[in-house]
Amino acid sequence: MSKTTETKLNDSKCTRLTRAVVLISGSGSNLQAFIEQIKSGDLPLDIVLVISNNKGAYGLKRASNALIATSAIDHRSFDSRRQFDQALMREIDAVEPDLIILAGFMRILTAEFVNHYHNRLVNIHPSLLPKYPGTNTHQRAIDAGDQWHGASIHFVVPDVDAGPIILQGRLRVGPDDTNESLQQRIHKIEHALYPLAVKWFAENRLTVESNIVLLDGETSAQQLQTFEV
Ligand code: GRF
Repeated sequence: MSKTTETKLNDSKCTRLTRAVVLISGSGSNLQAFIEQIKSGDLPLDIVLVISNNKGAYGLKRASNALIATSAIDHRSFDSRRQFDQALMREIDAVEPDLIILAGFMRILTAEFVNHYHNRLVNIHPSLLPKYPGTNTHQRAIDAGDQWHGASIHFVVPDVDAGPIILQGRLRVGPDDTNESLQQRIHKIEHALYPLAVKWFAENRLTVESNIVLLDGETSAQQLQTFEV
């Protein structure tokens, strides 16, 4: 895997499917969206392992139901964030993935971990970044009186929720929207866009230049999509 920014990010080329590890902490509805798209033949991806820091995560059941290997590594059994991340890296590296997908993984990762997977670690965040990094994004959008809210898929860098953006989806915030309604509506955007962004990676169509993600060598007109959901 080249670490220069000008080269294509995915080494899998056409000889085999892109191998992915998905990290989750909870429900795993985004994981389910990947599974459905793979089943329907729309996403050329092999999810080789799903790891959760929470052994009760429903997403682990979704993975098992789809006959995907799972692992639970409880962060509470480690003395430090660094030790947990190192254990995580060992499990991930053992299956030699091309891509690591954070899908509702509720842990802040060390710079060492993030840099180890430079330009092959992606995350989905429920806001129109750079707005509202961190938690409680839906309520923050409501409280600010925002007209638009959405989700962003980005490559991960050591600063939280700050990496180069691959794709964003937005919706209009209605006068009756609540934290819960926005969460549900944003999930619909996420389930449509996260598999698409990963598909672009798997098809070797993404590059990162000067902190900007290019699709087929160009700034994508599709980088911000508007949804009626
Ligand atoms: C999503 O809203 C995602 O944006 C955030 O965590 C949530 C995960 O949902 N990072 P799920 O577990 O995929 O249902």
